[in-house]
Amino acid sequence: MQSSQTRFTTPHLHSLLATRGLAAAVMVALTAGAAVSPALAQVPEDAARLGLQELRTLVTEGTGVVGDLQGVINSGKVPRDKVSPEALLAQLRARYQTAAKASLDAPAPGLVGEVRKAYVDAYVSVVTRHQGVLAKGGQDSFVPAYFRALVLKEFNAGMKGKLQAYATNREADLINGDWAVHRVMKGSPLAADVAKAMDGGALDPIVKRSGDRMLGYWPMKLNANCVACHAQNGLKQTEGGFGGALVAEVKVK
Ligand code: HEC
Repeated sequence: MQSSQTRFTTPHLHSLLATRGLAAAVMVALTAGAAVSPALAQVPEDAARLGLQELRTLVTEGTGVVGDLQGVINSGKVPRDKVSPEALLAQLRARYQTAAKASLDAPAPGLVGEVRKAYVDAYVSVVTRHQGVLAKGGQDSFVPAYFRALVLKEFNAGMKGKLQAYATNREADLINGDWAVHRVMKGSPLAADVAKAMDGGALDPIVKRSGDRMLGYWPMKLNANCVACHAQNGLKQTEGGFGGALVAEVKVK
């Protein structure tokens, strides 16, 4: 398999991607360590389901904030107050409110609260650290998939193995080999289930218990923008088809 570094064609992202090898290796190490840790706290099934749903909403809406800004970012003329951490957090609040019909700031018990805190912390941290890139802008300088990968890496570290989440795809459709399911879910008994579901390419979500874990699997559907941009990275995909999945797992009692 070729790496993103060789397949990726946008020069600006090249430099972003080049710095990522080590960080990705650290993430995989953390994830693998978490998967075998006997000290891992386990949560009841109901709480696990709610935690998974919360994660799904946050990743969808958070990634959507950066998705909505692609036009202005790509233009290279970015008003700084549109991409400040405060502005981006306000956007997340607004999108979350609409999607979840609840306030992002409302107190939430248990795993939901932990997921929300870890996600918001990771989101704010990533947009703060990348203010330079965001404010400068430029074509494909900050694509949603890249943002999502950065946030999930910090989110997973923040959750310390309790709930782990990844954006992944089947082998033939990967842009960045770091996100192969056998890598991101290394050591997880659910990795084979996820690989099988992706190979099937069905667009139905799966939330189910398997052994000591609860799996959340949410397929993504390709639109014209996804297909066009991925094509620049060497992929041949079809609009309306399976375009990868957001996956999360929680250890349950
Ligand atoms: C502007 C370009 C662009 C657009 C638009 C885009 N992607 Fe991607 N996508 C990428 C890049 C670049 C990566 C690799 C990111 C990385 O290296 O972490 C990626 C990675 C992914 C991944 C992670 C697995 C992998 O292949 O590395 C998934 C899943 C994915 N994209 C799905 C989608 C879907 C679904 C859409 C549309 C709703 C979409 N993308 C839109 C550029 C794009």
